[in-house]
Amino acid sequence: MQPAQIAPRDRLIVALDLPSVAAAEAMIDRLGDSVSFYKIGYQLGYAGGLPLARELAGRGKKVFLDLKLHDIGNTVARGVESVAALGATFLTVHAYPQTMKAAVEARAGASLKILAVTVLTSYDDNDLQAAGYGLKVSDLVEARARQAQAIGVDGIVSSPEEAAAIRKIVGHEMNLVTPGIRPAGSATGDQKRIMTPARAIAAGADYLVVGRPVVEADDPKAAAEAIHAEVAQALG
Ligand code: C5P
Repeated sequence: MQPAQIAPRDRLIVALDLPSVAAAEAMIDRLGDSVSFYKIGYQLGYAGGLPLARELAGRGKKVFLDLKLHDIGNTVARGVESVAALGATFLTVHAYPQTMKAAVEARAGASLKILAVTVLTSYDDNDLQAAGYGLKVSDLVEARARQAQAIGVDGIVSSPEEAAAIRKIVGHEMNLVTPGIRPAGSATGDQKRIMTPARAIAAGADYLVVGRPVVEADDPKAAAEAIHAEVAQALG
């Protein structure tokens, strides 16, 4: 599906950053029909979240497995096949050419889409230098976005601040998925480069990943509905 055709309510991805399947199931029950798309990352994934992903997909929910794969091509490919068999919709890989190529080839024929993580947002120019790179973060993000597009990756995860620049590079065929979203008035937590849902959509984001502002809200369902309203308004 081309990004422009995504219904406003399907653009919110709630991060199930919770310690157990029981806690995740309780949250999913509370959110009910308000949320159609869930992200499962390291914390829940390694605590029983993979069978939960399969179950959610079977119940008609979409699942984003944020596992950030990176290994030799053959290992990535076999992992991607297993994730595709779970019924997941999105899977993240680090944006190394071998890794992206292996993932894209292995998801052929499945409904799974591969998202590339260009440069982790916790990295600054000094961190890149310490890791042996001679590039600035912005240059490496741009180079990897171009490589991802050339390889046929389906989308990119970026901070909302990078979204407009990445959109210019990759055009409108690729999905842009942005965490670091904070509705007006909610606590920022450890997020530094944040945007409201409306501003992130205006910057070109297709999907918004939101964790604590929903799962730690007194009324998670109301928090999700407020984000839907803001997104619908931003889309006009
Ligand atoms: O609770 P919060 O809304 O900050 O959660 C955001 C989610 O997006 C978390 O699961 C976090 O790991 C993820 N994420 C992020 N920033 C990135 C990449 C992923 O916050 N750059």
